[in-house]
Amino acid sequence: MSVRFAKEEELERINVLRRQVNDLHVAGKPEIFKPGFPDELREYVRSIWNDPDKVIVVAEREGEICGFAVLHRIVRPETPFMFVRDYLDIDEFGVDEAHRREGVATEMIAFIRAYAKENGFSRIELNMWEFNREALAFYEAVGFSTYRRYMEMQI
Ligand SMILES: CC(C)(COP(=O)(O)OP(=O)(O)OC[C@H]1O[C@@H](n2cnc3c(N)ncnc32)[C@H](O)[C@@H]1OP(=O)(O)O)[C@@H](O)C(=O)NCCC(=O)NCCS
Repeated sequence: MSVRFAKEEELERINVLRRQVNDLHVAGKPEIFKPGFPDELREYVRSIWNDPDKVIVVAEREGEICGFAVLHRIVRPETPFMFVRDYLDIDEFGVDEAHRREGVATEMIAFIRAYAKENGFSRIELNMWEFNREALAFYEAVGFSTYRRYMEMQI
């Protein structure tokens, strides 16, 4: 398997994987996520591709893209409360349903860590939905820890 940056002609296939992640979010949080995969969401991959602060990483096995990640450099200016923050955010992340528990995501995280280090980042960050226990188990398995929480109360 190889992990590398995506090519433009792979955006269609990446959308297949993006849809799997979206469907999971719709099932888990239907009051927040729009169902289906409308053109707007399909086309959004182009905005990602054209954004100079974002890169798309893919995992390829036997000629097939089986995982993807969208990385986003975020710079937040200093505020009265906080120092400047400059970090690498994992905006989107997923492995094809047919290729889970084969170590694909673990290899993508190793690639992302190396990329972050080479580019001078001292932190990688991501946010995830609480219902997604499988993703939490994965992120913890590869070394992420929770440092902040979003809470809600249904009325
Ligand atoms: C979360 C996800 C990316 C993990 O990808 P993966 O390639 O299957 O993960 P790996 O095979 O590298 O797993 C490494 C370790 O993480 C943990 N892990 C991964 N998936 C897990 C699961 N479903 N349940 C419990 N632990 C899990 C295990 O410790 C695993 O090691 P093991 O297989 O030797 O037990 C994948 O399940 C996925 O794409 N889910 C849907 C999309 C999603 O939730 N994306 C992230 C949120 S935006």
